[in-house]
Amino acid sequence: TKTRLSREEKRSLFIELFREVAVCQRCPLHTGRHKAVFGAGNVDASVFVIGEAPGFSEDQKGLPFVGKAGELLTKMMQAISLSRHEDLFISNIVKCRPPENRDPATDEAQTCLPYLEKQISIVQPRAILLLGRVAAHTLLQETDSIKSLQNHVFHYKNIPLMVTYHPAALLRNASLKKVPGKPCSDFVPC
Ligand code: URA
Repeated sequence: TKTRLSREEKRSLFIELFREVAVCQRCPLHTGRHKAVFGAGNVDASVFVIGEAPGFSEDQKGLPFVGKAGELLTKMMQAISLSRHEDLFISNIVKCRPPENRDPATDEAQTCLPYLEKQISIVQPRAILLLGRVAAHTLLQETDSIKSLQNHVFHYKNIPLMVTYHPAALLRNASLKKVPGKPCSDFVPC
């Protein structure tokens, strides 16, 4: 049983961590970044969403999921009545953009992981959503496909956690949006 932090305590812990991430040089990804992408949303969010890495637009703006994949993520969340600014905090496995948007290397992900772990411990979300293979493999140490990981509830430090496709993958292959064997419902937009 962990003590709940107040919104003000969360805010001040986040400001401190944000300053650290902004000047981080722990891995080679810092050399190519324009801006580190700390994450955005509500410090007191009930759902913590984790993507892979900043892309071009995110690196320019210093904000997560602001491009095409971000637009789809916003719609996916709206479909289950979650607002990006109220219900979610959105972050990534690595805070700096990898060259040519390649996948983050395992050592880069591991080096950056303490920042994410600290973010989760500050937000104290009720649930965690992992977007895509890199997030799933890093946080769950699972190497299975998203297809086999989705629709299961896992736990991360006692917090219920689910995995789904990365919105960028859904943009490349719309047929992944269909959940096999499940009819469309309020929770599964068609
Ligand atoms: N894709 C991600 O995984 N994260 C972002 O912030 C943007 C695109």
